[in-house]
Amino acid sequence: MKVDAVAVGPLDLASGLALLTSSQQQGFPWLSANLLDQQGLPLFQPLYIKKIGKIKAGIIGLTGAVSPLPPGVTLADWRVVFPALIEKIRPQCDILILLSSLSPAENQEIARQFPSLHLILAAGRQSGNMIPQQVNNTLITQTAAQGKYQGILSIDWHKSGRWEQVKGEELTELRNRLGALDWQLLRMRKREDLQQPEYLDKIKLVEKDRETVTRQIETIEKGLTTGLSGEQETACSLNHNFLALQRSLPEAPEITAIVTGIKQQIHDLHANRIGKKVQFPLVGHEGCKSCHPAQGSFWQETRHARAYQTLVDQKQAFNLTCLPCHVTSSPVLALSTDQLLSLPPTLQAVGCENCHTGPGGSHAGQPEQFQMTKQVAEKVCLSCHTQERDHTFDYQKKLALIACPTGQAATKGRRP
Ligand code: HEC
Ligand code: HEC
Ligand code: HEC
Ligand code: HEC
Repeated sequence: MKVDAVAVGPLDLASGLALLTSSQQQGFPWLSANLLDQQGLPLFQPLYIKKIGKIKAGIIGLTGAVSPLPPGVTLADWRVVFPALIEKIRPQCDILILLSSLSPAENQEIARQFPSLHLILAAGRQSGNMIPQQVNNTLITQTAAQGKYQGILSIDWHKSGRWEQVKGEELTELRNRLGALDWQLLRMRKREDLQQPEYLDKIKLVEKDRETVTRQIETIEKGLTTGLSGEQETACSLNHNFLALQRSLPEAPEITAIVTGIKQQIHDLHANRIGKKVQFPLVGHEGCKSCHPAQGSFWQETRHARAYQTLVDQKQAFNLTCLPCHVTSSPVLALSTDQLLSLPPTLQAVGCENCHTGPGGSHAGQPEQFQMTKQVAEKVCLSCHTQERDHTFDYQKKLALIACPTGQAATKGRRP
């Protein structure tokens, strides 16, 4: 495909280091500044400088957390390797680009810390397609995993090295957000009479959000009317076009056969691991139902209780991409690969501890001493009900469908 640079991502290492190093020897342009060998030297090129017309682009690659690391390989913290690299290439390059599979939080941190970095092309496994977001003077963007989106990002580059602040699209999005917050506040204030301190705190949080959004809108609107204050240095602009591959595209039978075959191989490979002795930080629903029978039998009838069975039915019960959201684990409550592949039956469901966070084991042993959270915040749901998986998710509506019955005292129960 004539690519100039590809950063090594965590999943690229899944088939072993040898495959990557041999393709590198054949000229494939892998980059990674933080994958090191036993001597602490980079295993791949840390950076690549490309001349495009009169512009020199400096491209650095950083690899996100890999588990497990292949033998003999270490992953250095970007905080150790990145600052020196960017300082080194800054004087020689016009535009600085980072290819990163670090977490969204780390990418944001880098953008805040290194104002000379212009663009982060991210490859996070958790966030999907993402329109360019500006943090200071760095744009962060990514397309969804596994080639589900194809995109072109064209950049109109100028000497100023400053991105144009104003984006109509951003403004529309902020206004929509403001509308949603106003609506939320209206509903919350109607219930203010509840006078619960935590509820009032929640209102305060939403009010704070609203203030931030209002300020962002004002800043952008000011920029729109004053333009770029007449400086001769033109700001840089960009245009992105990320297109989803259509779901309606017909399947190619040869490819479908290959995919089905590989899924079967993965299934057979892992199928004998169930029940292996592995420690778990969670109790599982069996450890809760004895004292909370009313909630237990309600939950049993929800689709959450069948979420793992859904994967079994699809022969996907050992697919590490699917498991985190369909079992008692989640992108926030992460279980390790070993744990995910040897789940005891009591964790084979979206269970109590997905929603009621807290020290499940301690609470089940001494319920009076260790409390579970009762209310379930929207962001807990959204960790699984993502845009990609559930684009019509409506918190209030869906909460009503799954909220356990309240007002039924816990029984003394059998302590697990
Ligand atoms: C040994 C009995 C026992 C077990 C086991 C147990 N609980 Fe509880 N739980 C209680 C008692 C007692 C309370 C106090 C409130 C009550 O009387 O309803 C409580 C309260 C709660 C509350 C409400 C907290 C609040 O702020 O009102 C939640 C949520 C909860 N438990 C979830 C769980 C979950 C999840 C598990 C499994 C990890 C679990 N419980 C296991 C006895 C138990
Ligand atoms: C650990 C991941 C996870 C969390 C957290 C989670 N869900 Fe789900 N939810 C799922 C999965 C997976 C399914 C589909 C289960 C199936 O049928 O296989 C589902 C199904 C549902 C359904 C039934 C299908 C539908 O859309 O009508 C509702 C309602 C629902 N979830 C609401 C919620 C709400 C509300 C929250 C937060 C309070 C929440 N969920 C938290 C993973 C999760
Ligand atoms: C980011 C979390 C997440 C991941 C990863 C995920 N799912 Fe789900 N899945 C959900 C949620 C949430 C729902 C419920 C959606 C809804 O309510 O419409 C769901 C629903 C489903 C359903 C529909 C269940 C029904 O009976 O209607 C199937 C089938 C399914 N998932 C299979 C998979 C497979 C196979 C994978 C892996 C390739 C996977 N899921 C990965 C969150 C996830
Ligand atoms: C998808 C999220 C979700 C799951 C899974 C879930 N709950 Fe709940 N649970 C809720 C919500 C929402 C409420 C209501 C909170 C409120 O209205 O304050 C609730 C309330 C409760 C309460 C408080 C009851 C009261 O009288 O105040 C207990 C106890 C409880 N759940 C136990 C469980 C147990 C045990 C399980 C597993 C068998 C479970 N929950 C699974 C979301 C969940």
